[in-house]
Amino acid sequence: MTKTQSLVLSFKDDISLTEQEGQLFLQSSSRPTMPLENTSKGLQAVLRQLSSGATEEQLMELVVQHDEEIGLPRFFYFLQKLIQAGLICHTVVWNQVRLATIVPVSRQYQFRLNEPVADQPYLLSRFAYLHQQQKQWVLESPLAHSKMLIHDWRATALLHVLAKPTRLEELCREFQELSPTTVSMFLSLLLCQNALNQLNENGKTEAVPSLVQWEFHDLLFHAKSREGRQANLYGAYHRFEGQIEPLPVVKPPMSDTIISLYKPDIEALKQNDVSFTRVIEQRCSLREHGEQPITVEQLGEFLYRTARLRKIMGTKQRPYERSNRPYPSGGACYELELYLVVNVCEGLSSGLYHYSPTEHTVEKLTDRTRELEKLLEYAYSAIAKQGKPQILIVLAARFQRVTWRYNGMAYAAILKNVGVLYQSMYLVATAMGLAPCALGGGDSDLFAAAAGTDYYAETSVGEFILGSRADL
Ligand SMILES: Cc1cc2nc3c(=O)[nH]c(=O)nc-3n(C[C@H](O)[C@H](O)[C@H](O)COP(=O)(O)O)c2cc1C
Repeated sequence: MTKTQSLVLSFKDDISLTEQEGQLFLQSSSRPTMPLENTSKGLQAVLRQLSSGATEEQLMELVVQHDEEIGLPRFFYFLQKLIQAGLICHTVVWNQVRLATIVPVSRQYQFRLNEPVADQPYLLSRFAYLHQQQKQWVLESPLAHSKMLIHDWRATALLHVLAKPTRLEELCREFQELSPTTVSMFLSLLLCQNALNQLNENGKTEAVPSLVQWEFHDLLFHAKSREGRQANLYGAYHRFEGQIEPLPVVKPPMSDTIISLYKPDIEALKQNDVSFTRVIEQRCSLREHGEQPITVEQLGEFLYRTARLRKIMGTKQRPYERSNRPYPSGGACYELELYLVVNVCEGLSSGLYHYSPTEHTVEKLTDRTRELEKLLEYAYSAIAKQGKPQILIVLAARFQRVTWRYNGMAYAAILKNVGVLYQSMYLVATAMGLAPCALGGGDSDLFAAAAGTDYYAETSVGEFILGSRADL
């Protein structure tokens, strides 16, 4: 068997060939209908055959049958165009068993077949991963513009062995039931998908400088939450509409112990507040707090100026409620809930509180607990123990507010919203003469335990320390 005989070409699943008044069209769910003009009888036969699949040899035979050998150069040119357009899948087959199929997922996809060398070891890329999708294994990688559907357990077994450095000849010995051509072709497809690395004499992969510092999960999140090398739905699709009710814009009260907060006079502040430029220029992170703690009145003013709810929007036509608040939020989802872990605050006992942005009140959830001590200890360490935080504000996301609305970008949007709120908090704290400091990390399991939330429904995505200034 030749190498090309182990490779079957076919149209991607979402592509169909239609015919109108003798003219052929390629139709796809993801791109405009493409008319196929001036196609010879041979090329038309090729197009029809590609719907079910054929090897390159079989396609060439069809061309010769209809157009004679003179039709072959045009066929090769035409096939290249279809491959470059990302319309063609390649499947490794062995004894009529399909092992794996490489499917283009982006416009930058390029199909290049490199032969694996016999005497050098190969190792799966640390960025490649397998997951179950529509009841089959799919191999993906944030380095790839394609995905690989795994059809047969022998392909999974080959991947298993390639998790350790392995030479082609060793693989062929281990998988004697497969032909060496098939094994080699499988490796070629993995190379084409950037899922396999050839190791050098020192047993190392050639380091790509720009990849060295990427962690797997960071690069995967980046690739999947941006458009480009992925074909998932991306944007505001409301894919659960009619099946799942969207969460209300305001979280219902969490306890009966409700404390009203001080409301500042916004009109007076508009006239007399510190200038915007002074706030921007003086803003800095302050990690030490004053001996005189922040007061509940200051806390009330801070929350009113950063996070209160000004208006609810939502119509019969657009049942997804949205709101308006002092800080912006992607899609006006306003999924972020503010929880206050109060260590010391004049006029407010220590414990855990939830902020109600509509009522401008806090609901007391618990007194000081072991979990709250741990959250405060974590925050203290995150600022290199420069000062004990007076108040730790935890930003928790009600994830389904965003996942109901957005595809592909929901978690990325939440983290952007955290950044936006951080900046508003910094600016308001600076204008009020308070000490602000954002934190880069926190324990979301610990927070869920402290607040009694379901980790998958609502937990922490950001933390912010607030207190009185030590230098005033
Ligand atoms: C997203 C984010 C995360 C941060 N995480 C921490 C942190 O975990 N610990 C800390 O001490 N400071 C943290 N900071 C504060 C930065 O260290 C600080 O903004 C930076 O050093 C610039 O200093 P400045 O804020 O005083 O201008 C964070 C700031 C941001 C915006």
